[in-house]
Amino acid sequence: MENIEKLKEELSAGILAAGDIKSLEEVRVAISGKKGKITELMKGLGALPLEEKIEMGKKLNFLKNDLEKMLEQRKSELEEKELNAKLASEYIDVTQPVRPEVQGRIHPVSKIYEEVVAIFGEMGFDVAEGPDIEDQFHNFSALNMPENHPARQMHDTFYLADDANKDFDMDSSYVIRTHTSPVQIRTMENKRPPIRIIAPGRTYRSDYDATHTPMFHQIEGLVIDKNITMAHLKGCLYDFIKAFFELDEIPVRYRPSYFPFTEPSAEMDIGCLKTKTELKIGAGTDWLEILGCGMVHPNVLKAGGINPDEYQGFAFGLGLDRLAMLKYGIPDLRTFFESDVRWLKHYGFTPLDISSMTGGLSNNGGLAR
Ligand code: DAH
Repeated sequence: MENIEKLKEELSAGILAAGDIKSLEEVRVAISGKKGKITELMKGLGALPLEEKIEMGKKLNFLKNDLEKMLEQRKSELEEKELNAKLASEYIDVTQPVRPEVQGRIHPVSKIYEEVVAIFGEMGFDVAEGPDIEDQFHNFSALNMPENHPARQMHDTFYLADDANKDFDMDSSYVIRTHTSPVQIRTMENKRPPIRIIAPGRTYRSDYDATHTPMFHQIEGLVIDKNITMAHLKGCLYDFIKAFFELDEIPVRYRPSYFPFTEPSAEMDIGCLKTKTELKIGAGTDWLEILGCGMVHPNVLKAGGINPDEYQGFAFGLGLDRLAMLKYGIPDLRTFFESDVRWLKHYGFTPLDISSMTGGLSNNGGLAR
């Protein structure tokens, strides 16, 4: 009897002392495994006289049951403990900002590009593209700038070397495009009206100062349909400029101008306040030139294979980099292309801020930064 009580104390102390599931299992094997303490004792019962055997057998069975219950309970305690430890170590606070912090930034030019596409996309414009290396027919002649036209001199063109074996033909010799306007011609060649496209892309001119770089970006716009008038041009660009600067009202004026590929031609100015230290769009009495536009010249429609007696259209061209400088207050264009990560970190945008007309364009409430 005494021995059994002692044994119980000893074995239950072992159960309680087991600190994890693995050592608890070892304790269990030591108690009731094939060579366990209780198993051995039960095996020894056979040698006892009948009365004692019955008595002892009962006690051992009770002891075994008790110990099994304790083992069971200890097991569930330890399982819970281990689960809690696992939960604590794998805990993720989903309200915390992402770590490591996102490092990449979207370049302001890409951002402006997305914004402009979002605005015109909602107006039903498609995005069109053309090659950077362009023949002189598309870059000049088809845009109503025939050979020797003085307007060709307005662009500081990068000409590509001509193939020495080829008979010299100005129209088929190459330049790197000086503007995105050749995409107008390429679109007309490939698509029947109605046409409503914007063509964003890289453009090149031999120029370099704080507001000019040899490579820059433009967006061309072209709308062609029956009965298109200057009123459509004005309404479209007015809506665009308000959406772009994220303002309800902006004073706008159209100044007569000259582009060979439009007639009449105009430049659009927006009202602003210019001081020595800041430029405030939409307020004040100063004017800022923002883009060139006009009604597509009949010769341009003809060059694109469209009958000018049946169709009219309007076109516009704007400098993407200049828009970025204005909207985000970046003073020097040359810094755009220096690939300085400190600059990009300061002026760039996080990739998660996607421009949309419903979700917000710049995600910074407009002009302030
Ligand atoms: N292509 C012109 C330039 O680079 C910009 C331009 C002006 C485009 C008026 C147009 C337009 O489509 O109508 O200076």
